[in-house]
Amino acid sequence: TPAIAATARILARLKDQPGPLLPVLHAVQHELGCIPASAVQTIAEALNLSRAEVHGVITFYPHFRSEPPARHKLEVCRAESCQAMGGDRLADHAREALGCDFHGRTPDGNFSLEPVYCLGLCAQSPAVMIDGRPQARVTPEKLDRLIARTLE
Ligand code: FES
Repeated sequence: TPAIAATARILARLKDQPGPLLPVLHAVQHELGCIPASAVQTIAEALNLSRAEVHGVITFYPHFRSEPPARHKLEVCRAESCQAMGGDRLADHAREALGCDFHGRTPDGNFSLEPVYCLGLCAQSPAVMIDGRPQARVTPEKLDRLIARTLE
C-alpha cells in the first residue's frame, strides 16, 4: 500500500541514526497525516521492536495520531457557567447527535468531539466552538443547525 511504501522510504532514510524511533514517527505522521496500523508493523520490523513497543510510544505522546484528523471539530464548554445554563444537556445532545463520546470522532471522520473549559462566553452560556469559531447561547436545536451547516 502507499502508506507502507512511504514508511519504508522514511525508514531507509532514518533507521541507522541513533534513537531512530521518534524521528521516524514524526516523519511518517508528517507525510501520512497519522501513523496507521500498517505503518506500525513496518516500523516495528525495521527497528527490531515489538508492535506493542511502537504502539506504546505513539499513545504516550499526545502529538501522535493513529487515525487521520476529523474534518471538523466540535468543542463543547464543560466549565461551570455553561453547566449551570444547560451545558450538561447540550453535552449529552452533542454526543447523541454525533454518535460518539468526548475525545472521540464520528465513524465517517466528519467530526471530532472535545470538551473545552471556558470560552470566555460565560455571559452567553452555554457555548461551543466549531472549527475554532465560538457560538453562544447554544440550545440542542441550534447545535443541530450548526452541525448541519458545517457539513453543507
Ligand atoms: Fe463556558 Fe465560560 S463557562 S464559556
